[in-house]
Amino acid sequence: MNELIFYKTADNSTGLYNNLVKDIYHSKTGALKEAFEKFIYPINLKNILTNKNNINVLDICSGILYNTKALISSINDDVKANIDCIDKNKELSILAPFISDSLFNESINLKILNQLLENGITMDEIILCLKLYYTPENFSFFLPFTSYFINFIKNLPYKNNLHCQNKRFLHNIYYEYISTSMNKRSSLNEYENLRLNFEFCDARNFIKKTDTIYDIIFLDGFSPQKDPCLWSEDFIKELSSHLNYNSIIVSYSKSTPFRAALLNSNLFVGKTFIENVDSGTIASNNPQNINFKLSDFDLNLINTRCGITYKDKNLNLSPSEIISNRKLEQNTSSRVSSTKFLKSLKK
Ligand SMILES: C[S@@+](CC[C@H](N)C(=O)[O-])C[C@H]1O[C@@H](n2cnc3c(N)ncnc32)[C@H](O)[C@@H]1O
Repeated sequence: MNELIFYKTADNSTGLYNNLVKDIYHSKTGALKEAFEKFIYPINLKNILTNKNNINVLDICSGILYNTKALISSINDDVKANIDCIDKNKELSILAPFISDSLFNESINLKILNQLLENGITMDEIILCLKLYYTPENFSFFLPFTSYFINFIKNLPYKNNLHCQNKRFLHNIYYEYISTSMNKRSSLNEYENLRLNFEFCDARNFIKKTDTIYDIIFLDGFSPQKDPCLWSEDFIKELSSHLNYNSIIVSYSKSTPFRAALLNSNLFVGKTFIENVDSGTIASNNPQNINFKLSDFDLNLINTRCGITYKDKNLNLSPSEIISNRKLEQNTSSRVSSTKFLKSLKK
């Protein structure tokens, strides 16, 4: 059975379930909607782009690129954006430009395809991946462009991955498919200022080797309780060493040990909201980037055993090692338990 199961989410974008990890990748209430609400709206792009025309972005756990796509569609063409997209799973990035995302922007998908090829992904890899997932029962989860792409590639005289051939190939695809079917007058030069760099590895290894300073970091890993590797105090401290004064880390997670890890990294930490519901976390070196501070309740909870952070000193422990080390630390801690703290509030 294939590793990835597709489903439609409430905003008509495609969600994924991983059959091996037994985990859901996207919210059923809308995969694209979630990207905007939890990652784009809370960061106040206008602010970030004041007096600044180029930004470095780190998309940790980029998957099929909803957060990156939502960001691209929110910035002007003249902004120079370098986006590092990090995910363990290469297949996801390859599928990203073909998946029906309800964004209705073929140019973004073509740009992603272009950048995958520029990053050394071969046509063979793309075809292999599509053969696996673009099956009749999955057709509705893919853009109509996918079948055009497959037919187009079948008739190509050139099949390898040489740079100039990629350009010619994409140029042809653009003019034969996208500009006619979408009735567009623009060209492949759209998003000329955009660079995507794909790394298919554990994000912990990536952050150890990069020296880039990021303006925005999206953190979209699996939940801390399931996979704490990307929520440990040590990983968050490493991330915070890649920020400038105005940079922002944003995540859907509102987990207490994650918020504690951000505070222990000397960042100002706040909440993000969707329709008055606490729905994520934002952090920055600049307190003015935090619109909604953590409440006294949140801060008191952080001081209980529940606020003991995950530890991963050399950024190389397995999820189960990180979880059991934290349990041990919690059991021997003199802090009050979260249960006791919550009970004390009811009195
Ligand atoms: C919740 S999904 C992210 C969804 C994604 N942002 C999107 O737009 O599709 C979690 C992702 O984390 C990736 N992942 C999990 N652990 C990782 C790690 N240590 N380093 C890099 N990627 C990881 C998985 O492959 C999966 O794609």
